[in-house]
Amino acid sequence: MKRKLNIVMIASECVPYVKTGGLADVVGALPKALKKMGHEVCIILPYYRSIDRSKYEISQYHAPMGVWMGANTQEWCAVNKTETEDGVPVYFIEHDRFFARDRPYNDSNNRDYLDNAERFAFFSRAALQLCIDKNIQADILHAHDWPTALVPAYHKLWHWNSSVLSKAASVLTIHNIDHQGLFGRDHYEYTGLGWENFTSEKFEQYNGINYLKGGIYFADLVNTVSPTYAVETRSTELGRGMQTPLNSKGEYYLGILNGVDYTEWSPEKDPHLPAKYSTRSMKGKAKCKAALQERFGLKVDPKIPIVGIVSRFAGQKGLDVLYPVIHEAQRQMEIQFVVVGSGDKQLEAQYMALPNRYPGKVGSFIGYSNPLAHLVEAGSDFFVMPSRFEPCGLNQLYSLRYGTLPIVRSTGGLADTVEQYNEQTGEGTGFLFKDLSVGALFNTIGWAVSTWYDRPKHIKAMIKRGMAQRFDWDRSVAVYEEWYHRVVRP
Ligand code: ADP
Ligand code: GLC
Repeated sequence: MKRKLNIVMIASECVPYVKTGGLADVVGALPKALKKMGHEVCIILPYYRSIDRSKYEISQYHAPMGVWMGANTQEWCAVNKTETEDGVPVYFIEHDRFFARDRPYNDSNNRDYLDNAERFAFFSRAALQLCIDKNIQADILHAHDWPTALVPAYHKLWHWNSSVLSKAASVLTIHNIDHQGLFGRDHYEYTGLGWENFTSEKFEQYNGINYLKGGIYFADLVNTVSPTYAVETRSTELGRGMQTPLNSKGEYYLGILNGVDYTEWSPEKDPHLPAKYSTRSMKGKAKCKAALQERFGLKVDPKIPIVGIVSRFAGQKGLDVLYPVIHEAQRQMEIQFVVVGSGDKQLEAQYMALPNRYPGKVGSFIGYSNPLAHLVEAGSDFFVMPSRFEPCGLNQLYSLRYGTLPIVRSTGGLADTVEQYNEQTGEGTGFLFKDLSVGALFNTIGWAVSTWYDRPKHIKAMIKRGMAQRFDWDRSVAVYEEWYHRVVRP
């Protein structure tokens, strides 16, 4: 039997404490699933001001903690602690100058904080310092995306002979290759990573710093969150300049599909819904649809198909392509749209104005609302994701579970999880298209809507099929476990 591992998960967001996107869902769910398999797991997060101390019963654990950075700088911080509902310890690094802010990466105008290089270099170092101070003898240090990409580097460069961490192996999961942590070289001294590592193979890029590239170099294992995206990122087209570093990892760069936390996302027991439902009785879904229509001031009519969107407004998501399609669809079809999201200011303004332009037909909420995200998943008939690239995508998985047919671009995790509808046989779980163009998206939405009106039996069968599918964490965790064992020191 394989031995149980001690896994330290280090990340910049995690459900339920702080979330901007799917990263938080994954960091919340993966430890739970690993613990279920008998491993010891803990999570280390920054202590942002928005994290509710009393709600999560967070108390001080270790203070003061001194953390050496470069340029002979010592930072002082405190460590707070709580436990998840499943008994996973969660440590929060408290450092007010860096983290007493409401949002993790940027201000309310969506502008990145100017000290992100220092904030997350410090956090990555502090996470390792905590392990050393508290004798957390990790087998696996598991970091996520650029904010914690320096964990593998500090581990290899600074702590290779520490009695607590020398045996650990490091894993870096890439959830979003669009964000690499690019900074001017004037930030490098603070990191303390040493100018000998400021090379084009490790941290240097166009004379600036690239955190993700350094993380890829130093990590023992790098993965992304779907098999197709792992293949795509090895190419020039979607590698965003990381294709060479990723290819140089050989088989130690792979795709492991995310799972879904079905305790949070199941229509049978979703507390955010006005009515519950399952494949046995879909009456509740009709109630959710009516509630969604009402909430967004749309005409309450079960016959009109609703297309839902819940998304970060970022270039990745293709919402700039969807925008003209909504106008065109309003001219040509009987169809409703509901959009929930925030991010890019220009897109926010465009989507905010839509309900006035198409009263009773298009609704939007600009902002972040988890209850609304659940209501959109449940109340919509279709869910659209015209992503330019999509490492995994969780919303299409939620949609399948909620009987809401995904209309998605065939890329990354979307291609791995949605099966194309076959008009002859009725098979499939959604509608896929290849080209990211207004025409292709419009035609695919048109195809879905004509299927809705003309082949309702096919729609019904697809809904059932999608709802019965499971993308459980257990399956994904078994793959993580296998790879952890391949890199762990004996
Ligand atoms: P990404 O991580 O790239 O944003 P995913 O599909 O993996 O994409 O995950 C997005 C997650 O964030 C989902 O759980 C989705 O419901 C949630 N989400 C995104 N935008 C919002 C929003 N405005 N309000 C509520 N939830 C949101
Ligand atoms: C990212 C990706 C998304 C993925 C999520 C969780 O933000 O954009 O595709 O599902 O991380 O891994």
